[in-house]
Amino acid sequence: MASQASGWRLVIHGGAGVMPRGSISPEEEADYRKGLMTALDAGIGILTAGGLAIDAVQAAVVALENDPNFNAGHGAVLNRDGLAELDASIMDGRERKAGAVAQVRTVKNPVLAARLAMDTTPHVMFAGREADDLAAAGGLEIVDPAYFVTPKRVEQLKRVMAGEVKAWDRRGTVGAVARDSHRNLAAATSTGGMVAKAPGRIGDSPVIGAGTYADNASAAVSATGHGEMFIRAGVARMICARVELQGMSAQEAADVTLTDVRSLGGAGGVIVVTKDDAAMAMNTDGMFRGEADGAGRKITAIYAGE
Ligand code: GLY
Repeated sequence: MASQASGWRLVIHGGAGVMPRGSISPEEEADYRKGLMTALDAGIGILTAGGLAIDAVQAAVVALENDPNFNAGHGAVLNRDGLAELDASIMDGRERKAGAVAQVRTVKNPVLAARLAMDTTPHVMFAGREADDLAAAGGLEIVDPAYFVTPKRVEQLKRVMAGEVKAWDRRGTVGAVARDSHRNLAAATSTGGMVAKAPGRIGDSPVIGAGTYADNASAAVSATGHGEMFIRAGVARMICARVELQGMSAQEAADVTLTDVRSLGGAGGVIVVTKDDAAMAMNTDGMFRGEADGAGRKITAIYAGE
């Protein structure tokens, strides 16, 4: 992506995966692009007003969690018991403060629970019922677990469990990275994980350093893809280290790290923003994504090479 040395910047993703051109109908494509634009607008409103990157990434991810087309919050993929078990994390590059929740089932917006963990506790990560309890005690909106379950995801689970489709529609996870006008960096990620996952399985999204990382000294990163390999490769932290210690651009660091993920058998993508540039990289044939900046650029894309 073109370099921009100053001003705010926002990059979002709505998941990477198997999505060759033609596999998504024009109507679905329009829906996905509309959802990405809504998420961009949520972050842009904060950044144009001089707000913080951490608030912008949170707002963008909340919008994506509320959109049933994406694999996070309402409309998340289901585990093999038919339940949504949700993971999310958020990180502020100013002081490397971070918060994360895993396996939540009742908080409407898991990324807000991650923010709550970051802002109101001395801890980074909460899991399971206690994470939901923390969200409730903190005044976040609590919903019935059925809120997350959509007919499309029930059908998807049935087909995967029946072995009709090997890895049907495993694309998913949402995330955002931003640089604000004060040159702070932040990242957030939220997901339902992988369709038909084993109950209790936790992917990379809530793992600080794997699915999410932000440090004003290097970069902010959010990942999407096969979580196990992203954890094993330490993707988000590794991209930041390559930027900081090896002087790589956002694109170089993202590409090298995704090649490493591929060597482990993993597929997916990352979004990256640094003080000077940004990247949207994938080793799949598509990733729902969008980008906006203070110079007026505002775009969405789906397929590789777009
Ligand atoms: N990348 C999301 C997951 O594997 O859970």
